[in-house]
Amino acid sequence: MLRIRQARPEDHTEISVLVVTTFGQNNEHRLIEALRAAGAVTLELVALLEDRIVGHVCFSRFDVPPGWWVLAPVSVTTAYQNRGIGSELVRYGLDQARQQRAGAVVVVGNPDYYRRFGFVFDGPAHLSSPYPAQYTGLYPIAPETAAAAVALRYPAAFEEA
Ligand SMILES: CC(C)(COP(=O)(O)OP(=O)(O)OC[C@H]1O[C@@H](n2cnc3c(N)ncnc32)[C@H](O)[C@@H]1OP(=O)(O)O)[C@@H](O)C(=O)NCCC(=O)NCCS
Repeated sequence: MLRIRQARPEDHTEISVLVVTTFGQNNEHRLIEALRAAGAVTLELVALLEDRIVGHVCFSRFDVPPGWWVLAPVSVTTAYQNRGIGSELVRYGLDQARQQRAGAVVVVGNPDYYRRFGFVFDGPAHLSSPYPAQYTGLYPIAPETAAAAVALRYPAAFEEA
């Protein structure tokens, strides 16, 4: 049975292997390590099947606006993709973001995937971002964020990674 829980320091090696293997490169792994080192991580989750880590997601805080979270990266072991594990991780994380009263969550990714969770691409909000607008999705939590005009400042780790 699939279990989702917060990542612990003793999971870090297994998470590294999962992330590097799944993406086939080091960039995302470097990003996660830089976010942890900067104390910017707001939530890090793992998905376990029989005590093996098969999925991971990281959320971190924007420098600006305060209280907004960024979702990145998410990964599921290749052999277990397309079974709903990525969706479980994202939904669990968004629930936590609501409970912790984040203002909004932003993702940079494929709209076809992230729309199903409630991320809005090309919505009324005007987000200025270093990443392409058509791939920048907003999951508004505080009502005023749905139509906000905001210049996003990502944690420095995004530039370093
Ligand atoms: C993206 C990823 C996390 C999704 O996790 P998953 O457990 O395989 O996804 P789910 O089973 O929850 O959802 C499956 C659906 O997502 C779609 N999907 C999977 N990867 C996708 C991608 N990169 N772009 C768009 N859609 C994608 C599938 O086509 C499927 O669609 P359907 O439900 O309409 O048939 C996983 O495939 C992965 O780790 N990919 C490699 C790393 C990556 O690209 N991460 C995302 C960028 S940070």
